[in-house]
Amino acid sequence: MNPVFGEKRLNVENALKLARKIESDLYVLPELFNTGYAFTSRDEALELAEEIPGQTTEKLAEYCRENDVYIVGGIAERENGRVYNSAVAVGPDGLIGKYRKSHLFYAEKKWFSPGDTGFRVFTLKKLKVKIGIIICFDWVFPEASRVLALKGADIICHPSNLVLPYAQKAMLTRSFENKVFTVTANRVGSEKRGGYKFLFTGLSQVTNPKMEILVQASRDREEVKVVEIDVEEARNKKITEFNDLFLDRRVDLYREILG
Ligand code: ACM
Repeated sequence: MNPVFGEKRLNVENALKLARKIESDLYVLPELFNTGYAFTSRDEALELAEEIPGQTTEKLAEYCRENDVYIVGGIAERENGRVYNSAVAVGPDGLIGKYRKSHLFYAEKKWFSPGDTGFRVFTLKKLKVKIGIIICFDWVFPEASRVLALKGADIICHPSNLVLPYAQKAMLTRSFENKVFTVTANRVGSEKRGGYKFLFTGLSQVTNPKMEILVQASRDREEVKVVEIDVEEARNKKITEFNDLFLDRRVDLYREILG
């Protein structure tokens, strides 16, 4: 997607128009898909943010109910005067849950409060699938994806507004090192506001536990793509007959990671 800053109604309509183009069980939308990215202040973010559930979540839920599908997408969330860079998981029965971005990138630190939800796994009942969510810059911290994998996520949904060119490659490693599927939904286009200019890197992709890109979208155009996966591939954590990804971990040697 290439959201237009501040045009929430248009952006939500456009997301659902794109979804309608292709049949899928699970759709993943970019980070802040309804508001756009480059806020000029916390007050502006607060103004455009919504409670969860709220207007955007309701629109997504309506689509999910009518089409018997699931959607994950990033929105600015307002709660008790704070603004979070959040993502929602929505399904045929409405809101399933939300995640608040833990690792804020660059000027996001001026606009948002750091997430306090921790890393959550949600069950998509109809699909018998477990998903986790990380948002954009969270990719830099492999602990986030690891925690989700340890909690049983089959698929890591990764709504993004990436500006650095590394994440698409790194997510291949996240896939292999956790033996999960990843779906990076990255916006395209650019935004110039408040003295900042952001050029988003597109190239949305789905990766599998064999470290392959199964499908990839355009660098600079809006596009929706679909791929069929067998989630069972994410449930076998064996690497060789002697190696199991989870059982071979040496947590006794990882103390420093806990700070
Ligand atoms: C980012 O975290 N939006 C780069």
